Amino acid sequence: MEYSFPHYLLSKQSVDDRALNKDVLESLKVNLPSQPIKIIEVGAGIGTMLRRLLRWNVIRQAEYVLVDEMAENVEYASAWIPQFATEAGLSVERGGQSQLRVFDEAHDVRIRLERADAFDFIQKNKEPADLLIAHAFLDLLPMPESLPKLLSLTKDLAWLTINFDGVTSFEPTADAALEEKIERLYHKTMDTRPTGGDSKSGRHLFGHLQGIGAEILSAGSSDWVVHAVGGKYLEDEKYFLSFILHFFEESLTGYVELNTDAFADWLSERRAQIERCELVYVAHQMDFLVKNRSAG
Ligand SMILES: C[S@@+](CC[C@H](N)C(=O)[O-])C[C@H]1O[C@@H](n2cnc3c(N)ncnc32)[C@H](O)[C@@H]1O
Repeated sequence: MEYSFPHYLLSKQSVDDRALNKDVLESLKVNLPSQPIKIIEVGAGIGTMLRRLLRWNVIRQAEYVLVDEMAENVEYASAWIPQFATEAGLSVERGGQSQLRVFDEAHDVRIRLERADAFDFIQKNKEPADLLIAHAFLDLLPMPESLPKLLSLTKDLAWLTINFDGVTSFEPTADAALEEKIERLYHKTMDTRPTGGDSKSGRHLFGHLQGIGAEILSAGSSDWVVHAVGGKYLEDEKYFLSFILHFFEESLTGYVELNTDAFADWLSERRAQIERCELVYVAHQMDFLVKNRSAG
């Protein structure tokens, strides 16, 4: 199988659509200032959240800045955003490689693609947004020190979604002790990455956010739950599951505490379960809507 990160982000869309906490989303809609608004999304990947917010009619008039450090993602976004916008019946104008406008009678969204490290972007950003979005991103960062820097990007709201929170589960389980060990070690790799990360970032965000004076307007679970329906995985979720196992393989191969053969057998059995549409995967995560009280 070929492992492509943009393809993984595409395959994650339907999983995230189900997972996103709808009470927190409702709170976002209620608290969003009247449009036009400025949105900055950090760790934006290929632009799946922009697509979702257009599809869900949350944004209509906006300036939307997508920041991601991976060139492959930004290049993919530059080609893919016009494609999905056109398919949705929107007109598209391009202003160079990094500027797009998607619009119809009800929508006018001016998009800027920034290939940059989020913290370099923070240094040069002049005008804060009305809404900061960080989706499946905060659990990769050093905390709590990253939070005040990120929140400086918004003068009002931050929607902080899909923050991993300490539970990974695969079913069916043949060897509970091995399963527990793989889960524990996988979480440990998140906690010991040199670039930062926290396997319990969801629950820790309550304290971190309160610690910097941000007001939590809404919070709730946004668990990934992936299982076959009618004997088939939905959408491209078979690829999504394969990529999740790829993350496990990349993170844990060669780990001294883990028996190499036992782990190889585990991977191969889990892959066979995907082929048979038997594998059930759950990851516990949390969403937050926050008001930045220190702004202005
Ligand atoms: C798990 S992906 C999520 C992408 C996107 N939010 C989504 O869910 O489709 C995390 C993203 O953060 C980006 N990233 C990681 N560290 C970053 C940094 N310091 N600055 C900007 N982007 C970063 C990666 O390139 C990747 O696209």
